[in-house]
Amino acid sequence: MSIDVEPLFQPLHVRGLTLANRIVMAPMTRNFSPQGVPGLDVAAYYRRRAEGGTGLLITEGVGVDHPAALGDAGLGESNLPHLYGEAALAGWKRVVDGVHGAGGKIVPQLWHQGVMRDPGTGPHPQAPSMRPSGLWGPTGRTSSIAPAYIERVQAPTQPMSESEIQDVIDGYARSARHARELGFDGVAVHGAHGYLIDTFLWDETNRRSDGWGGDRRARTRFATEVVRAIRREAGEALPIFFRFSQWKQQDFKARLATTPRELEEVLGPISDAGVDVFDGSVRYFDRAEFEGSPLNLSGWAKKITGKLSMAIGGIGLDRGFYDSKRDGRAGGSDNIELLMTRYLRGEFDLVAVGRALLNEPGWTHKLRHGHELPPFDEARLKELH
Ligand SMILES: Cc1cc2nc3c(=O)[nH]c(=O)nc-3n(C[C@H](O)[C@H](O)[C@H](O)COP(=O)(O)O)c2cc1C
Repeated sequence: MSIDVEPLFQPLHVRGLTLANRIVMAPMTRNFSPQGVPGLDVAAYYRRRAEGGTGLLITEGVGVDHPAALGDAGLGESNLPHLYGEAALAGWKRVVDGVHGAGGKIVPQLWHQGVMRDPGTGPHPQAPSMRPSGLWGPTGRTSSIAPAYIERVQAPTQPMSESEIQDVIDGYARSARHARELGFDGVAVHGAHGYLIDTFLWDETNRRSDGWGGDRRARTRFATEVVRAIRREAGEALPIFFRFSQWKQQDFKARLATTPRELEEVLGPISDAGVDVFDGSVRYFDRAEFEGSPLNLSGWAKKITGKLSMAIGGIGLDRGFYDSKRDGRAGGSDNIELLMTRYLRGEFDLVAVGRALLNEPGWTHKLRHGHELPPFDEARLKELH
């Protein structure tokens, strides 16, 4: 490959963290942590990516310290890891030490499933699922979740009470403290894809008329309080990464913002709360988000907030995640040149790679040295390769 990728191998400093390069492993649920505890196999899996030269690893979604954070989110998971309790924390310590031993950096992605948690499942089956307004979301607009499942969870429940909201925020704070104490290099927040934080941002699932709902800016309050609580516990040295998305699992066509001005209403307050890097989750990194500019969602986040941003979506592959799930085809890497063009324009500062890094732990090293990258193998999605 004759494309010059060396510009991606410049260090990046953000707060107290120095990354050796701009390639980031995207957060990917693996479901290999029985009782919420990542074992030696999980530690080895992350270490392989650090050994492969990837500058930063974002872990799979990790349940925060709240009873309803995790369950089977319509996807049949049951071995999802969490970030509380002696055994899980010891497991994560092994992961962190392994990655550091290989010269890498790693941050946990803090996750609360919110409305997506299947009631009656997870480590605390009796806990009610957390829904800002008691709503799962519109039905009939998703293709990734089985209709029978939606039928079962669609009935409205009690909206979250003031004390339930505070309990969840405290859970994020405790897990952020654990992250710092374990030696993680920052904290990533899952604010996307129709999970709890996103359902506060989205008008379809946040119909509250108290201080947690209202217009687009008012709906950011939960996200901002979570970020502030994380900052208090994580300290000033650790960067906070924030993932957001237009699309929801409940509705792929959903949009939090239809113009840059609306996006500013969402991201402005979240940025002010203390986010360092925005990660606008899209399926194709090269799609323009709004008419009249080629910028993608992360590009707009950077332009609007002045913070760092991270590109994601089909990098090193020619098919997005859900499209390739439908037709089983993910293709090979032919978009690195396009990636470099956009990167060199300054649209984003970091490049997150998901499935291509599941497929090939040494992806980053191979990209840098022009080695051939293996064709995508769908089986990797279900293995701890
Ligand atoms: C197996 C798998 C699990 C995923 N789990 C998560 C997750 O836990 N948290 C998250 O924010 N995104 C998750 N994603 C989305 C990825 O982070 C990424 O945005 C998506 O795969 C697109 O990037 P790619 O085209 O490079 O794979 C997952 C994706 C895959 C393939």
